[in-house]
Amino acid sequence: MTPYLLHGGDYNPEQWLHYAGVIDEDFRLFERARINALTVGVFSWAALEPEEGRFEFGWLDDIFARAERQGMRIILATPSGGKPNWLAHKYEEVRRVTRDGRREPQRTRHNHCLTSPVYREKVRAINVQLARRYGRHPALVLWHISNELNGYCFCPLCKQAFRDWLRAKYATLDALNEAWWARFWSHTITAWSQADATDDSVDGAILDWRRFMTHQCRTFIRNEVEPLREHSPGVPVTTNMMPFAEDYDYWELAPELDLISWDSYPRWHAGGDEPRVANEVALSHNLFRSMKPGRPFLLIESTPSQTNWMDVSPLKRPGLHRTASLQAVAHGADGVCYFQMRKGRGSHEQHHGAVIDHCGHPDTRVFREVTAVGEALDKLAGLVGSPVAAKVALIYDWPNRWALEHAATPQRAKNYQGTVQDMHRPFWDRGIAVDVIDSATALAGYELVVAPMLYLLRAGQAERLAAFVAGGGTLVATYQTGVVDETTLCWRGGPPGPLRDVLGLWVEEFDALPPDQTRRVEPVPAAGVAGASDVGRGLTGVYHARHYCELAHLDTATALAVYAEDFYAGRPAAMVNRHGRGRAYYLAARLDGRFLNDLLGELAADLQLPRALACPLPPGVTAQARGEGANRIIFAMNFNRAPAVVDLGGASYSDAETGAAVGGRLELPAFGCRLLRG
Ligand code: GLA
Ligand code: ZN
Repeated sequence: MTPYLLHGGDYNPEQWLHYAGVIDEDFRLFERARINALTVGVFSWAALEPEEGRFEFGWLDDIFARAERQGMRIILATPSGGKPNWLAHKYEEVRRVTRDGRREPQRTRHNHCLTSPVYREKVRAINVQLARRYGRHPALVLWHISNELNGYCFCPLCKQAFRDWLRAKYATLDALNEAWWARFWSHTITAWSQADATDDSVDGAILDWRRFMTHQCRTFIRNEVEPLREHSPGVPVTTNMMPFAEDYDYWELAPELDLISWDSYPRWHAGGDEPRVANEVALSHNLFRSMKPGRPFLLIESTPSQTNWMDVSPLKRPGLHRTASLQAVAHGADGVCYFQMRKGRGSHEQHHGAVIDHCGHPDTRVFREVTAVGEALDKLAGLVGSPVAAKVALIYDWPNRWALEHAATPQRAKNYQGTVQDMHRPFWDRGIAVDVIDSATALAGYELVVAPMLYLLRAGQAERLAAFVAGGGTLVATYQTGVVDETTLCWRGGPPGPLRDVLGLWVEEFDALPPDQTRRVEPVPAAGVAGASDVGRGLTGVYHARHYCELAHLDTATALAVYAEDFYAGRPAAMVNRHGRGRAYYLAARLDGRFLNDLLGELAADLQLPRALACPLPPGVTAQARGEGANRIIFAMNFNRAPAVVDLGGASYSDAETGAAVGGRLELPAFGCRLLRG
């Protein structure tokens, strides 16, 4: 997009048009903070189209002209995230209906109906205007569709569209009734008009509704994008996604976009464990990078200081803003943007952090930290467009998540998200790059596939995983794998369904532990692991299982660890199966962080997974590498509140910012990041 990394964010000049001098001052300050991109128009519908069909573009023309004069770029948003009053009052169908059938009043934002033909038509009309006017403007760098697309609408239009979608999917009522297991509780559907998604007791319907809403969102995006592609050829299109947001399957939205962007608002300092938060953020970066393999993504929103919507949002400690911003670049972002550039005087986000505060001048800590990010990004321009290479893939699947979290099983502590984070952590601790992939993603090129809680297995997925292992790959699967198929019907034969051969076991039942209980788990001495002397050596001492303790039977798998208490003492809690040229591990219980670290750490060493820094890293310190050849940068990041020292061993590097030689001991300030070449 540009030969430099983007640095900028959401800017709302329409709130300041009648304040003399403010916009002039903003542009002076942008230059000073090394801001090179502004996201405008996100919530500007009422300013751009004050009455139906009457458009006012003068103020936006001025912003484009100023940006161009100053060599800045504009990320132009379409305004559909917030509908103007005239529209919401004249056409009630654009307002969302809640699950219980109540039409929402015009309020807040992000609550339009995705199906309404009127809304789609009005959005398209203003997009046509914007695309014609600015689509070829030299300052335009990126289109930003809507804002944080999310939520469901249960209006008659959406419900009818759902029934049409079901009909196209299932063709016959028999097929629908089978998929929804509708004989249960006498829910058999005898006319398409009865098919509904407000009944929480029908798992298959809930899953289909979420798939359908994803589809509506996809066609909503397509409707927005078409005029942009026509009048603004070659300018990429994005939308701002949210970290692991529940409502839509982002894997299904990604193909409509040219660039993936996301909004990051971590809960820094709120719980006192910053490395944990940093791992969580790294996982999101890895997810969004992986949605367009080999291509960069954009951190399109982050707060330069605090948010105003968390219960408590402590100040970011000095240095952390720079490190967290560079973390995005390390994971593949081609820019760091903020919400927001200037605090508004009134309404809901007047107290949300901004580059320019109410004081109006640059002599603030936040402004200086933002400037430091700008300076660092300037030095990293060589990274633009460069990929991050990963040999580990972690499967994250939305329908699986929906099915698992909704299922009424004997254990409600599903914690899919936490489990995914826990399994990502050992790689983050070692500075190993991880791709986050969908169930449908091809596995070629990966050494290790980690599949946490793959409760729902899609058609063909078991075969793909088996082929990966048979070809020499390593798979790590866990409890609650292969329980249902993609319609949420249980696999006949029980878990792990069609993965039985590759995992070499079957699961008879699982003990659900109350939250305050654990069960001891102990490794099987390596000598006792028949024919498997090269695996499981790293397990030592006593581990603990929580929430899930499955009681499995081994077909061909070998136990690596066994339960050490309760009536199932001696039964396998972790096992490995050789399948073709590869290995498949299975964790039958939710084992603690130390177990995951020991096992996955051993696998990482065994498979010689590439690490950004070859030396051991202290706790809370990680490293990520990005770029190739002379442009390769290693980001060494310390997420501890105290300085840390990395013993680089014999390796030598140069500091990418100062050019100074770095060897021996690498000192990292508290919440600091150093950039190395070499
Ligand atoms: C979201 C929205 C922004 C703003 C920020 C505040 O990311 O997209 O419009 O409300 O939250 O943190
Ligand atoms: Zn609707």
